[in-house]
Amino acid sequence: MIILKSKLSLKNHLEKLRSQHKSVGFVPTMGALHDGHISLAHKAKSECDIFVASIFVNPTQFNNLGDLTNYPRTFESDCEMLETAGCDIVFAPEISEMYSEKELASKKNNIEDRSWTNGRNVSFGTLDDVMEGLRRPGHFNGVAQIVSKLFRIVEPDKAYIGQKDYQQLLIIQSMVRQLEMPIEIVICPIMRESTGLAMSSRNKRLSLKEKEIAELIPKTLFWVKDMKNEKTIAELKEIAIAKIKAEPTLELEYFEISNMDTLLPVQRIEPAQKHIACIALKLGNVRLIDNIILD
Ligand code: PAJ
Repeated sequence: MIILKSKLSLKNHLEKLRSQHKSVGFVPTMGALHDGHISLAHKAKSECDIFVASIFVNPTQFNNLGDLTNYPRTFESDCEMLETAGCDIVFAPEISEMYSEKELASKKNNIEDRSWTNGRNVSFGTLDDVMEGLRRPGHFNGVAQIVSKLFRIVEPDKAYIGQKDYQQLLIIQSMVRQLEMPIEIVICPIMRESTGLAMSSRNKRLSLKEKEIAELIPKTLFWVKDMKNEKTIAELKEIAIAKIKAEPTLELEYFEISNMDTLLPVQRIEPAQKHIACIALKLGNVRLIDNIILD
């Protein structure tokens, strides 16, 4: 496994491999890796000749500086985990390698930088107006900004993205479509701890007691899935919200049952459509998100 820090060295390296007709699988990450990330790594390794991972804590997708500075950084153990998973190349650039001063100044002044669209009229429509988009203004522009940059450098055949961040997944799919990038987005299922809690870099910040409390999140989601044919959407939502609110340390941000493609809330289960239940909440100062596909 080699670790590269510059765009040019990565591009040159990949060009040689591509001239030998090797396929490239790519897993973008922000590091602090856990077995959820590694499940993406295994899939990329098994489906492509060359597996590239990136580790880059992207400043433009954070809503506040505190969250960015507190983001866990575990570069050495990340590299060990990737090497064990058969990674060929780790791309780990510095901020200055990915962003111009102008782009960073836009972020500092809360101005959305749209240069990543290359002048195209890219719009995420309502996808960016609900749930995470509503609560984290500019977040998905930052995600699209970095992922488009990474895709243009790596030019993968396939990119592996987790269902854990379902709204992010739809945004990336939409971006790839609108920018006409010839990349297949492979959706990877949510890896959970034995208790059902979705794996997340943020779980490390939970105490044992808090982890126990957090089990209520998957329990509630699985309950909703089990009961979807027994109750109306309004009843499912009401009971799920009551279950979460019964635990006073959980501060619910949203619980939605939505159309899987548009993420717009639904009033009833339509047999011709697919539905997803999504939740976000705070436990102490740790923000957790999770979801479950209902169909
Ligand atoms: P990060 O949070 O590091 O996640 C990297 C990838 O791992 C994402 O595709 C995410 O959905 C997936 N992932 C996280 N937890 C998972 C779990 N429990 N099971 C399966 N997959 C999981 O998401 C980002 O980084 C960034 O926004 C990024 C796309 C890299 C852009 O900066």
